[in-house]
Order: sequence, then C-alpha cells, then structure tokens
Amino acid sequence: MSARYKVIVVGMGKRGGHHASTFHANPRFEVAGICDIDRPRLDAAAPSLGNPQVSTDAASLARAIKPDVFCFCTLPNLRLPMVKIAIESGAKLIAFEKPIALTSREGIEVKAMIDRARIKAVVSHQHRYGEHYRKVKEIVASGAIGRIHTVYGTATGWLMHMLTHLIDYMRWYAGEPEAAWAIAQAAGRGKLADVHPSPDYLAGFIHFENGVRGIVETGAGAPDVPEVEYWWRKCRIGAQGTDGFAEVMTGGGWRAVTKAGASSGGGKMDYATDMPPYIQDMAEWLDDPAKVHPCAFESAWKGFEIAMALSRSAIDGGQVPLPLTTGADEIAGFKRVLADRKVLLSMPENAKEYA
Ligand SMILES: NC(=O)c1ccc[n+]([C@@H]2O[C@H](COP(=O)([O-])OP(=O)(O)OC[C@H]3O[C@@H](n4cnc5c(N)ncnc54)[C@H](O)[C@@H]3O)[C@@H](O)[C@H]2O)c1
Repeated sequence: MSARYKVIVVGMGKRGGHHASTFHANPRFEVAGICDIDRPRLDAAAPSLGNPQVSTDAASLARAIKPDVFCFCTLPNLRLPMVKIAIESGAKLIAFEKPIALTSREGIEVKAMIDRARIKAVVSHQHRYGEHYRKVKEIVASGAIGRIHTVYGTATGWLMHMLTHLIDYMRWYAGEPEAAWAIAQAAGRGKLADVHPSPDYLAGFIHFENGVRGIVETGAGAPDVPEVEYWWRKCRIGAQGTDGFAEVMTGGGWRAVTKAGASSGGGKMDYATDMPPYIQDMAEWLDDPAKVHPCAFESAWKGFEIAMALSRSAIDGGQVPLPLTTGADEIAGFKRVLADRKVLLSMPENAKEYA
C-alpha cells in the first residue's frame, strides 16, 4: 500500500480550513494535528477532521507529531518562523500560502532556509487547477495562437493578495521564461495599513529573457472585468500571440481567438474543485521526486521576485534587474515614498475597498 503522509495544519482560518478538510478527505494523508492561537476555532474544527491532536503552539505540536507535511496558512506577517519550525520538525514537505513573504529581505531568508534544508515546498497558487485556467494553458501550449509575445494579468484586489497569483499564471502561460527586468508605478496609501500591506494600485511591465512582455495591474486602478460579478474574482489573465489570444477570467470562464475562429467556455474559480488536485499532487511529489508539484516553491519564488522587483521600481524608480541580488523592505519603502493623495479608481465599485 502507498504511504500515508502525516500532516499538521497551522492557522485554522479560511485557508487553513480548506487545506485541512482537503487533506482529511484524501486517503493519502492523515491530519495528525491542527494548530491555531484561537482555541475555540481549533475545538470547532477538530471533530470534522477526525479529532486530530490540537495545540495553540506550532513548535510543540510539530515536535510531538514529527509530520511528513507541515502546512501553514497564517496571514503573511508570519512566514520565516513557521518555515523554521517546519524544517526543525524534520518534515519532508512544507505547504504554505502566498505571498512567500511581505518583503524581499524576508523572502530571501525563506528561500535560503528552504534551499539549505533541501526540503520540498509548495506555495498555494492553486487557481491554475481551474478548468478554465487549464483550458487557456492548453490552447496556448498547442500553438493555436502562434508565437507568444505578450502575457497580461489584472486584478482589482490589492498587491499582497493578488500580484503573485497574476504573475504565476502569466509565467505559466508564457512557458515559464526567466524575467530580465521590471518597471512599475504605484499609488495610494490606504492599504498600507491592511494585514496584506500594499499600495492601493500598482501597474507595471516585465521584460522576459525570451522577449515576451508581461503587463500587470493590481488594485484600485485595474480595469473592471464586467463578465464577472464577484469583485475578488474580477481578474483577467491571458496571452497574445502572432495568431490570436486566449484569456481566463477568474470568476467567469475563458475565451480565445485563433486562426480557426473564436471560441469560449465556462469555469469559475472554486476552492472545492481546485484544492483536491492541488493536495493530491503533494502526495505524487512525495512518492516520486520526479513528479515536481506544479506550484513548487522554485516557480513561486520567480513570481515573488518579480513582484518585489515591480515594487522596488515603484519605490525607487527605473528598471529593476532580475534576479534580485539583495533584500530590501518594500513595505517600508512604499510607506516612505507613496504620495498622500487619494488613489483614482477604475470603477465606482472599487470605492468600497479604496474609499
Ligand atoms: N491561495 C488563495 O486562493 C488564497 C485565498 C485567500 C487567502 N490566501 C492567503 O492565505 C493566508 C491566510 O489567509 P486566511 O484568509 O486564511 O486568514 P485567516 O485570518 O482566516 O486565518 C489565519 C489564521 O491564523 C491564525 N494564527 C495567527 N497566528 C498564529 C500562530 N502564531 N500560530 C497558529 N495560528 C495562528 C489566526 O488565529 C487565524 O485563525 C494569507 O497569506 C492569504 O494571503 C490565499
């Protein structure tokens, strides 16, 4: 029989709940422990997860259980200490939420720890499992839109929520090219105080080494996606080539124009359908090192680096070369330079978030 992997899940909020219930539903995993500093939340979750061990302290739970998989879904202010606990626990795989960190300084430390420990790591850019996301990948990879020259991504949600999602899928559609440099502008201080601290709006360009251009916008000034009603899912990611284009709308299907004509189809981002294959691919990677997870840290790192390069360009001006060679505190940078002027919106509906 195939191995059953022991998992602990730390941070039992929205995403921790999705992860824990999906691990529990998969026979390849056993949820051996859950952790949150909010005790009532833990006690409420435990019965539906087979009554695993519960704790308000991640380090002691990890020491007691010695999990194969250390999964943490805390807010982005908590990354480095959790990666450290995961590595010390002897886990084989760390599964954690985007963004990798809040600053390139912390991100570089996270990467160094993961590289040194040679531990497998997976970052949750799980939208790519959506049928509409995969359809666009299939069209692009089939050659039906010709040679890709541009990839683009927009989201009305703000940077620390959305930017690495957008870049991850743009890079995927572009064939995972290396980025050479990035340039961007940012506006609005309102979301600097958020738990996902961000400028209200950032718009930028990415130059990939193979000549592909990336265009990205996240936040208050990003265009509406009128095909999608749910505000958080007003995201459009696509690729343009010499013979046409193909794009996905997170909450509203896909469309393409190729030499063969126009086509479109449905699909909506849905945790219930995206999470099971995302979790199953962790078992596959643990079973066979050759079956690298599609959301492996290595790929997420490249997207995070680009996100931080865009941020640094918005802070310091000019083009920022990639890969990054030094760490910086981009949040402090945004706080220092962003003008105290109200951000301009792309549509009235954005006022509910960027008042
Ligand atoms: N991949 C996606 O589609 C997606 C969607 C939403 C959120 N996210 C990301 O998921 C992460 C978590 O977001 P969320 O919405 O689940 O947050 P949340 O606030 O619902 O949950 C976070 C939980 O962590 C707990 N916590 C805080 N400190 C802790 C500690 N020291 N030890 C143990 N538990 C601790 C909190 O009590 C809370 O229950 C964020 O990084 C967010 O960006 C990803």
